[in-house]
Amino acid sequence: MSGELSLIDKAKFVAAKRAADMVEDGMRVGLGTGSTAAWLVRCLGERVRDDGLRIKGVPTSSRTAALARDVGIEVMSLDEARWLDLTIDGADEIDGELNLIKGGGGALLQEKIVATASDRMVVIADAGKEVGTLGAFPLPVEMIPFGWQTTQALVEETLISMDVLGRNSSLRMNGDAAFVTDEGNYILDLHLKRIGNARQLALVLNQMPGVVENGLFIDICDTVIVGHGDGRILVRDINEGTVEHEKLDFVESNNLFADLDD
Ligand code: A5P
Repeated sequence: MSGELSLIDKAKFVAAKRAADMVEDGMRVGLGTGSTAAWLVRCLGERVRDDGLRIKGVPTSSRTAALARDVGIEVMSLDEARWLDLTIDGADEIDGELNLIKGGGGALLQEKIVATASDRMVVIADAGKEVGTLGAFPLPVEMIPFGWQTTQALVEETLISMDVLGRNSSLRMNGDAAFVTDEGNYILDLHLKRIGNARQLALVLNQMPGVVENGLFIDICDTVIVGHGDGRILVRDINEGTVEHEKLDFVESNNLFADLDD
């Protein structure tokens, strides 16, 4: 029940619910990864079940694929879909130009491929994700396991000439072992504190041989939906230059709130 949800979960839920209402019959939809995107998948599952909405979902991780199937969404691969109408995903940080840091959940590679193959990317988030300047959240960089320590040294050396405040990095762990992505790669988290020129950093990182992709999403996101714990929603569209304020009332009996495990 919604009464048991924390304010932050309510904020994520209202953002996700608003985004789910943007999805139209027949659309091919990229499904993001993370706790906010999980709300989106549940909301879409409810529309499929209750309203007969017909969509095809392209998940951005094995976790999202499992959840989507669980809630009754037809899942297909990106190569089957080829091009998507819309991708809806969460983010770790969002700046005023709708540039993002993503990859806190380790799915940045599939997330960037899927978002880039979409007519439109909508990001859903709680208000805590909005920042003036990107970089307080550690920037994830996906790298291949071969020679990863050499790649890490190269990345740290390159950071010396970049407009950032911190230059340390750490291998993401899963208990005692390295965290491994869906593609079998490692994640290097860069503790930059503040990124002065995100566009330049994104380009430079991707030129390094061991680096597969970085978590900076520059000029990819079209719309951000920011939710608040009291149900207020802000919808900001970078192409239209519009900002809309709305409010969503919780429905206490909503069965979306049952059986939550994340
Ligand atoms: C997954 O790899 C990430 O890009 C997530 O979208 C991001 O970490 C946001 O996750 P939450 O919605 O759980 O905060």
